[in-house]
Amino acid sequence: MTAIAVGGRYAVRVAPGALSVLPDVLPDGAEQVLVVYSEAMTGLGRAVADLVAATGRRPLLAPVPDAESAKTAAVAADLWARMGEAAFTRTDAVVAVGGGTVTDLGGFVAATWLRGVPVVQVPTTLLAMVDAAVGGKTGINTAEGKNLVGAFHEPVAVLCDLDLLASLPTVDLVAGQAEVLKAGFIADPVILDLVETDPVGAARADGAAIPELIERAIRVKADVVAADLRESFLREVLNYGHTFGHAIEQVEHYRWRHGEAVAVGMVYAAELSRLAGLLAPEVVRRHRDVLTSVGLPTAYRGSASWADLQTAMGRDKKTRGARLRFVVLEAIARPVRLEGPGEDLLAAAHAAVTG
Ligand SMILES: NC(=O)c1ccc[n+]([C@@H]2O[C@H](COP(=O)([O-])OP(=O)(O)OC[C@H]3O[C@@H](n4cnc5c(N)ncnc54)[C@H](O)[C@@H]3O)[C@@H](O)[C@H]2O)c1
Repeated sequence: MTAIAVGGRYAVRVAPGALSVLPDVLPDGAEQVLVVYSEAMTGLGRAVADLVAATGRRPLLAPVPDAESAKTAAVAADLWARMGEAAFTRTDAVVAVGGGTVTDLGGFVAATWLRGVPVVQVPTTLLAMVDAAVGGKTGINTAEGKNLVGAFHEPVAVLCDLDLLASLPTVDLVAGQAEVLKAGFIADPVILDLVETDPVGAARADGAAIPELIERAIRVKADVVAADLRESFLREVLNYGHTFGHAIEQVEHYRWRHGEAVAVGMVYAAELSRLAGLLAPEVVRRHRDVLTSVGLPTAYRGSASWADLQTAMGRDKKTRGARLRFVVLEAIARPVRLEGPGEDLLAAAHAAVTG
């Protein structure tokens, strides 16, 4: 089983059947374990609870509403209530089993109960394996927006069981490939080579290169967050494609999958890099080709206007004052910051992804 260390603090284990090592990574002192899972994945939630029970610990089953409906203050409060009723102590532990919504929620509840109890993340989507469950960012949404409330809280272990991807719908697997390809663009060109060699396999859970792609993408994220847990420039490179991508998600009211929006956002960032004279046109073409080859979109053809998209970009986390700030590329694996690009450049990049 591959174990990827995150700054010597915890390991991300990647293998078919990785879930079976859960008993070994649960903290010794944990007598009770809150198992958080989506009610759409009850079978898996129960199986994890059985694994916990087999170690002599008491599992508390905590099914939560599916997808983004899990990431609310009301659901977090329900979980806190369960922990309160069970007299959950600081040495007890949380296991979050699911997509990024469940790992974000479970991580957040673990971060906040008694100011922090251990959490083991068991991501079940590609996106959660390579992104959401690694790095210690946790959070919930509020009526005002996504991920506005949260905490940094690193897991004690992350178990990426590749067998769990078998049931993931292809659209979700493909959306997750956007974050894998992002890791390729910002840091690891071998990822791009692997996908270019077998794009069909990259869009299937049983594709030959899937384990290596996941491991490489996790290593990219692990290397960045090991050096920089909180949000400063190093971690900011992980937001490649996310400024325009988040804008699409907002104007489309989150009907687009995150990875699909990020795919178009990466093409936007690549076009911006080219227009700023930083990136060769063939690298922009490579973005479009490789993203298209796995079935990701590379253009925005929705109804929102350029003005709407600009307003949405203005709300982005990376904006300082009125100036927009982007992660762009000078070459594959050479990300740089582009601060306050001119209106003409922004509009030209928009034209390039909508034309
Ligand atoms: N904390 C971070 O650093 C970070 C990073 C990226 C994204 N996120 C968050 O992650 C969330 C998105 O995560 P997601 O894309 O995994 O979505 P998700 O958690 O909503 O899962 C997508 C759907 O797939 C289903 N599903 C999950 N695993 C499955 C499996 N193995 N088989 C069949 N169905 C399965 C879920 O029930 C759900 O309906 C967002 O809320 C986003 O904010 C967090």
